[in-house]
Amino acid sequence: MPVIAVIGAQWGDEGKGKVVDLLAKEAKIIVRFSGGDNAGHTVVNRYGEFKLHLVPAGIFSLQAICIIGNGVVINPNALIAEIDQLNQRGVDTSRLFISDRAHLIMPYHILLDGLEEELRGGKALGTTRKGIGPAFADKVARLGIRTGDLLDKEVLLERLRFILNHKNAILTKVYGVSPLSEDDIYSQYCQYGERLAPYIRETTIMLEEALNRGEPVLLEGAQGTLLDPDFGTYPYTTSSSPLAGGGCLGAGLGPIKINQVLGVFKAYCTRVGSGPMPTELTDETGNLIREQGHEYGTTTGRPRRCGWFDAIAAKFSTRINGFTRAAITRLDVLDTLPSLKICVGYKLDEHTIDYFPANVTALGRCQPIYEELPGWQVPISDIRQYDQLPLQARQYLARLEELISCPTGLISVGMRREQTIMKMPIL
Ligand code: IMP
Repeated sequence: MPVIAVIGAQWGDEGKGKVVDLLAKEAKIIVRFSGGDNAGHTVVNRYGEFKLHLVPAGIFSLQAICIIGNGVVINPNALIAEIDQLNQRGVDTSRLFISDRAHLIMPYHILLDGLEEELRGGKALGTTRKGIGPAFADKVARLGIRTGDLLDKEVLLERLRFILNHKNAILTKVYGVSPLSEDDIYSQYCQYGERLAPYIRETTIMLEEALNRGEPVLLEGAQGTLLDPDFGTYPYTTSSSPLAGGGCLGAGLGPIKINQVLGVFKAYCTRVGSGPMPTELTDETGNLIREQGHEYGTTTGRPRRCGWFDAIAAKFSTRINGFTRAAITRLDVLDTLPSLKICVGYKLDEHTIDYFPANVTALGRCQPIYEELPGWQVPISDIRQYDQLPLQARQYLARLEELISCPTGLISVGMRREQTIMKMPIL
């Protein structure tokens, strides 16, 4: 039985939450493998509407085990609040586990995220200010504290004392702000430790056992490919890899175990935060897409930048993830538009190019070359069969499929779980 990675193929917010919620009923284990509470996965199902930031979107499945993998950075306060909220609304979290190798977001990470953004001034990255970048930087600098450290108060104190000295020097001497109190952080994190202890495990064994039993596993990505620190619009990226390859590292799984890589694409493009986006629309059409699609950040509430589907970026995304299937989401948002554009090339200075440049200055100068297709101008949210979609919608999807270069498995035509057209089996 397969391991399937569900990957954001654009700049995040593609609708991975809904796709994972939908596929979770077939899966035995769902592992969130990257990012932190910068993510916001919206799920609308029989329990209501949820905005999940850390807990895998598979939590609503009655039989699935949900793991927050080692590749995630965890703000314990945010996680406890999310668990409490789920429990209050009748969702069982007893099948949730946290890798003991996952790093913790500490109060100085959140503080430094804001201070660093302010220091960047006009070149601010537009981060979510959740401390994600500083937490991943500390992981690599070997200055991190992990969830497993919460289980031993002496280890926690020793680690915190050593690291906080260093952080307080930066806070006071570089940024001129007050130092943080060791006592306050220690007692707070001891409380978090007591609360989270039942969830913290060596999770790779659980995964291995499930695979040995042939049980289906879902790897739940966060953010999107074009925010990857290697392949995204660097430095306007996040700090962990949202790619399928990141799924192996962030869950603790060998690469040849992944059988299926599902790329989740919106039927248009959005981006939140700074950095180039060649097909961005700053006109009425962009506003219309934003309002029709309620394109405001799940985590920060910021308006998302909206634009036409960028097939150059999409092809790049397929190449570096190895998508075996695509999910096209939010097709219904385009219902009222008389015509639709797809970017099929970039004009960069005097040249026409068909690749996604690494250099953000060059990408910022790229002018999209568009193909135009007719819109369908009828509501499609109640349609459940592919062949019942209007001809123009099928033509649009067929062109996307051709450009993305992998078959479409699923089309989403609304927020709710059932507002989905299964074109081809995924699991
Ligand atoms: P950070 O991940 O908070 O450091 O933010 C870095 C960049 O990634 C910013 O442009 C954010 O807006 C963007 N970003 C982070 N998480 C998400 C997400 O879940 N969806 C969309 N954009 C995100």
